Amino acid sequence: MRYVFVLLLFIATLYGAKPVHLSSKYESAIKCKTCHEMMVSDWSGSWHSKSHYNKDEYFRKSIDFTARKSLQNVNSVKIKCAKCHNPRISVTKVSDEYNVVAALGLDAGTKIDKALEDKKISEGINCLVCHNIDKIHDKAPASIRGMDRVEWTRNGMMSGPFKNSKSPYHKTQYRSFFDKNPNKLCFVCHANDHSIVSSKLLFTNMQKEYKGSQKCIECHMSKKFSGYASTYKFKGTEIKKRRIRHHLFAGAHKERMWKKALELHLSQKKQHLVIEISNPQPHNIPTGFGGRELLVDIQFIDAAGKTNKKEISLTTHYTRKHGRTSIPHLAIKQSKNLSVPAKGKKIIRLLIPENAAATKVTLYYRLANEEIRNLLHLTDPIWKKKFFINSKKLEF
Ligand code: HEC
Ligand code: HEC
Ligand code: HEC
Ligand code: HEC
Ligand code: HEC
Repeated sequence: MRYVFVLLLFIATLYGAKPVHLSSKYESAIKCKTCHEMMVSDWSGSWHSKSHYNKDEYFRKSIDFTARKSLQNVNSVKIKCAKCHNPRISVTKVSDEYNVVAALGLDAGTKIDKALEDKKISEGINCLVCHNIDKIHDKAPASIRGMDRVEWTRNGMMSGPFKNSKSPYHKTQYRSFFDKNPNKLCFVCHANDHSIVSSKLLFTNMQKEYKGSQKCIECHMSKKFSGYASTYKFKGTEIKKRRIRHHLFAGAHKERMWKKALELHLSQKKQHLVIEISNPQPHNIPTGFGGRELLVDIQFIDAAGKTNKKEISLTTHYTRKHGRTSIPHLAIKQSKNLSVPAKGKKIIRLLIPENAAATKVTLYYRLANEEIRNLLHLTDPIWKKKFFINSKKLEF
């Protein structure tokens, strides 16, 4: 047991990122706008820019719920989640003394309180999260995640995809995880996530489930196109034309991304309707965060045009101690994973009602299932909204 403890401590100190002070010259995306307008405006519309307690209702209420139900201080939970959600935070651990101080309500103005209120982390996954990564420990055990997997560059050094760039505002350095192997960069955080009560309860395991080597950025940033990495023109030099990408990081919260994300095929086998949902993407859908939901809406239509409706929910349910409903982060048990596997399919069979003449099946996606929306009292309509994926008809 003692050896295990020593080993864990050793691994943690081996990989734990040391926070680097950020100069106000670089700390926020607005500072990059004069010269990298497109990247800044693309990124501002992404959910990477909303990854902060004050900006994402679901994230905030998950933290509050976790703190309340596990009798921890809210700030301690925030610091745990910051590993991936706010990795430029200057404090990475919470001491026992702090917990005592915080429990007495005397934590205002402490180092931890200041670190959490700092403007530098309010932008979530901003430019300086990705472009200040110097090294990625991609061979580290899967349990080392987020900022513990990386080492930061020094102040004012931007790592990126070019071997020959110069900027008057900052230094530059080439790193292969921006061009040759960018999935390595995404897997720093999009690898696995587990309950804080039981590290064996993985509610997402994207890196392990990933099929093939397609680049995430081809689908979630954009295809490469000819443009300018920087529009800044200095001292009579020409601005270089480059092959660049949009910085959209568009995903589950963007309805347009869902259209045709899954394929649907209907057929009849004797008395049964066979619904085949195929996933051409390299990762499971839903993947990522637990509690996401696929809805299969089935309508049987009779000869007189009357419809008979049925809705099937493909989602995961979580329970904590005493069998109580839970969010993934506090779960000790989860129901069977109903995701459509990467490059795989899911088949649903239903008995066709006797009088049915035709059927219409529609597939939707929802960010949070009903159980979680109720548990956390999520109020923003986005969590409930049904995003259209695909629809098919069949006559019997
Ligand atoms: C989640 C990680 C991530 C974040 C956040 C991010 N970038 Fe990038 N950036 C990349 C990747 C990956 C590339 C390489 C894209 C490619 O193949 O061209 C890139 C490329 C660039 C380039 C070179 C041009 C290009 O498209 O290759 C510039 C300039 C740049 N980013 C600026 C920014 C700025 C400014 C911000 C903040 C608004 C930002 N980036 C935020 C990942 C990120
Ligand atoms: C005064 C203009 C200016 C400002 C402000 C500026 N940059 Fe740049 N940046 C440039 C120029 C010029 C290049 C080189 C473009 C080229 O070679 O095509 C560049 C290149 C880059 C690259 C690509 C580096 C590489 O070698 O691959 C990244 C990443 C980057 N900048 C990030 C940022 C971030 C983040 C900020 C804000 C904190 C920022 N820049 C602010 C002018 C600027
Ligand atoms: C430092 C950690 C980190 C890195 C590195 C990172 N991400 Fe993310 N990403 C997150 C977090 C955290 C969220 C969830 C933010 C939220 O919803 O509040 C997220 C969300 C997303 C989403 C979902 C957006 C939506 O609208 O639902 C996509 C897509 C995504 N990231 C793609 C990428 C890609 C592609 C890369 C690699 C170039 C990458 N990420 C690198 C942490 C990271
Ligand atoms: C061939 C295109 C493609 C590639 C490559 C790809 N994705 Fe996706 N991804 C999708 C589609 C389509 C969806 C569903 C619509 C959406 O959310 O964007 C999706 C969904 C997501 C989501 C939201 C899922 C959820 O249910 O919360 C995240 C996060 C994500 N992808 C990250 C990644 C990361 C990280 C990689 C690389 C390791 C990657 N994707 C590679 C197409 C792709
Ligand atoms: C290992 C990195 C990592 C850690 C640690 C982490 N997250 Fe996340 N989280 C992510 C990524 C990546 C996503 C985006 C996944 C997706 O959209 O499919 C995400 C998404 C979420 C979402 C969904 C947000 C939305 O807008 O839909 C919530 C809520 C969330 N995380 C809560 C937490 C809480 C609470 C903690 C701390 C107890 C935490 N996370 C710790 C990586 C992490």
